[in-house]
Amino acid sequence: MANVENTPSKSNEQLNQYVEQFKLYRDKVLALSNDSLEKTIAVALALCLVCAVLVSLATVALRPLQSHNKALDMKKNILDVAGLLNENTDIDSAFKENIESKIVDLKTGDYVDGINVDEYDQRKAAKDPLQNEAIPVDKDIASIRTKAKYTKIYFVKKAGQLQSIILPINGYGLWSTMYGFLALEADAQTVQSINLYDQAETPGLGGEVVNPNWRALWKNKKVYSDKGDVALTLVKGGVDESRADAVYKVDGLAGATLTSRGVSNLIQYWMGPEGFATFLTKIRTQG
Ligand SMILES: Cc1cc2nc3c(=O)[nH]c(=O)nc-3n(C[C@H](O)[C@H](O)[C@H](O)COP(=O)(O)O)c2cc1C
Repeated sequence: MANVENTPSKSNEQLNQYVEQFKLYRDKVLALSNDSLEKTIAVALALCLVCAVLVSLATVALRPLQSHNKALDMKKNILDVAGLLNENTDIDSAFKENIESKIVDLKTGDYVDGINVDEYDQRKAAKDPLQNEAIPVDKDIASIRTKAKYTKIYFVKKAGQLQSIILPINGYGLWSTMYGFLALEADAQTVQSINLYDQAETPGLGGEVVNPNWRALWKNKKVYSDKGDVALTLVKGGVDESRADAVYKVDGLAGATLTSRGVSNLIQYWMGPEGFATFLTKIRTQG
């Protein structure tokens, strides 16, 4: 036998009843004096309800646009560190034409298949217990506590030839975890540029990590010493260019020793054995 309770006509009837009850209540409230407590509360509640519905609708409707803008912003940061960004750059097409994204297993230095590289969000993965790994305190030089097991790197290619390798880096400064990219030339050793695109250090002090003049000091610096150790570091007071090791040194930020130390630490960590050292060694030796 058909379930009479759930037939469409029965539920329409119920809905009509609710609408009628609502109209009765609405007319009763509207008939009240504007000064009455009941009318004031009813109008306030109705207003809250309408606003809540509008905000929820806007949130849901704008979500795809927000995701698109977030992805576009990341592409912009990558093009910037690759030296491929100017005010007329069409970000999507420049990224598509020049950049190849890959997922790398940091432990083995090998590429990882089976992950959608376009959808993989490394910053999210670093916070997800299913996708991250805890960094032992004694190895956590960059003070980041966890890192994604797999990391997304980018190759810049021109006519099929590797131009540069772009590596995501992050580490704690004085007030914030700084996120950025380091671009190395195809030799996997010479710095092309750095872009610490997300940080909350003090503007004018640690926040000078975004200053183009300071960023320019990184060009042509070397990461690894002849022994293979991470030698690249920031120095307080400025680099003595007459010294043989000047190629491994970048001027520290004036009045921001702690942020500078954070930058040195994140370079030490991410270029070291816990970071990209294995992968970069493979690039140098195997191409
Ligand atoms: C309001 C305020 C904001 C600061 N912001 C930073 C900062 O973003 N990065 C930093 O390294 N030091 C910052 N400092 C300075 C540090 O407290 C510390 O004095 C400084 O890192 C020492 O650098 P120096 O030896 O180069 O002077 C700030 C200090 C104050 C009072």
